[in-house]
Amino acid sequence: MPNDHNDLKSTSNAMWGGRFERGPAEIMEKINASIDFDRKLYAQDIAGSKAHAAMLVAAGILTAADGDAIRAGLDAVKAEIEEGRFAFRKDREDIHLNIEARLAELIGPAAGRLHTARSRNDQVATDFRLWVRDALDGLIGLTRSLVAALLDKAEAHAEVVMPGFTHLQVAQPITFGHHLMAYVAMLERDLGRLSDARARLNECPLGAAALAGTSFPIDRFATAAALGFERPTANSLDSVASRDFALEYLAAASIMGVHLSRLAEEIVIWTSAQFRFVSLTDAFTTGSSIMPQKRNPDAAELARAKVGRVIGALNSLLIVMKGLPLAYAKDMQEDKEPTFDAALSIELVVAAMAGMVADLTPNESVLKAAAGTGFSTATDLADWLVRSLNMPFREAHHVTGRIVKAAEKEGVDLDALPLSALQEVEPRITAAVYDVLSVENSVRSRTSFGGTAPDGVRWQIAAARARLGL
Ligand code: ARG
Repeated sequence: MPNDHNDLKSTSNAMWGGRFERGPAEIMEKINASIDFDRKLYAQDIAGSKAHAAMLVAAGILTAADGDAIRAGLDAVKAEIEEGRFAFRKDREDIHLNIEARLAELIGPAAGRLHTARSRNDQVATDFRLWVRDALDGLIGLTRSLVAALLDKAEAHAEVVMPGFTHLQVAQPITFGHHLMAYVAMLERDLGRLSDARARLNECPLGAAALAGTSFPIDRFATAAALGFERPTANSLDSVASRDFALEYLAAASIMGVHLSRLAEEIVIWTSAQFRFVSLTDAFTTGSSIMPQKRNPDAAELARAKVGRVIGALNSLLIVMKGLPLAYAKDMQEDKEPTFDAALSIELVVAAMAGMVADLTPNESVLKAAAGTGFSTATDLADWLVRSLNMPFREAHHVTGRIVKAAEKEGVDLDALPLSALQEVEPRITAAVYDVLSVENSVRSRTSFGGTAPDGVRWQIAAARARLGL
């Protein structure tokens, strides 16, 4: 079979082809070109170029006239891209060369002066930092909306009792608000990770040039400030060789994704016919084309699944970076696609979860009935034996176990056992014990710091609102 992949382009690259006699093999162009995905960086690339050009003028490296022409030309390129009039070309490899080549067509030789004292290596590092910074800001905003939805729902249902689980076996009664506040606690740490990542990311690599810095008298502090960075990066090799800013973003997004996949999974379980703990409206469910009775929690399932992409992206970039010698290597061009896809996925997940949390209604009677099953107040009984009869906890645990066994044999919950049955196991038990066997009293008694008592839950909500300004 003929392999036209080995066909050669007849002309060498206009941007770097000085020592080349002919163009790349077609497959070379195919594997090398990143324009199909890095075109997403156009706005960041143009902002970086404008900051660089203005600095070159201020430093006396470019004339003001060239600086003006470059700025106007870059604005024109930006308008062409945003209005869909820009012809992206694979033979121009990436977004940087596409924009520069178009700039040359528009303004002539002055365009060639823009690349003074920079390289695509510091250029792409700068563009990508700017992009990830925007992604972090966007994700922080979405996450805050999700936290706000959780706080509202937790506040509205701070008193609603439900079973708390370990091993997905009923353990002890808790409140619905308390359960939701567990996710608020996780998401607050996620927000912390995202803002930590943003603070560390916010240094400007521009001016590191290819890897060694430049002999031109550039002002890296000026370009850093113009692009909203705290300061320039301190080492030119690290500037072009590192992508841990993207890894941190992906790691924080992955951890948050894991948290949200657990909430998504709980929503899937809770909306099932066997649980019926919560209901979602038509807005967040789909029907089945064959089974008319179905109401499927697709958004929760997709949120659960899409987190896989985010974790995959983190793995993918970790593996790309692992073992790379300093400084830049083309391997690093593979940083973008997984990061872009992960950003899209985690943003969808967070927004969908915010929508679902606002949409869902807890089924209070079902939750309450379930809260009392599985002898969920057995610990309350044991605690009562300790408190009222001064029994050592280990003994109380044993006595309670025998009472649970009796209830199991009768096929009733603990609070339905007659006093005589309780006294058969421990004669000193009095009718006062029934006070602690109800699920309401059980949750109300959990007043330790961070516990599930409704007052404590309300305190958690108020404290989180104050900390987050929500
Ligand atoms: N498209 C490249 C990337 O994303 C830009 C940097 C290319 N640098 C180079 N020396 N070839 O990594």
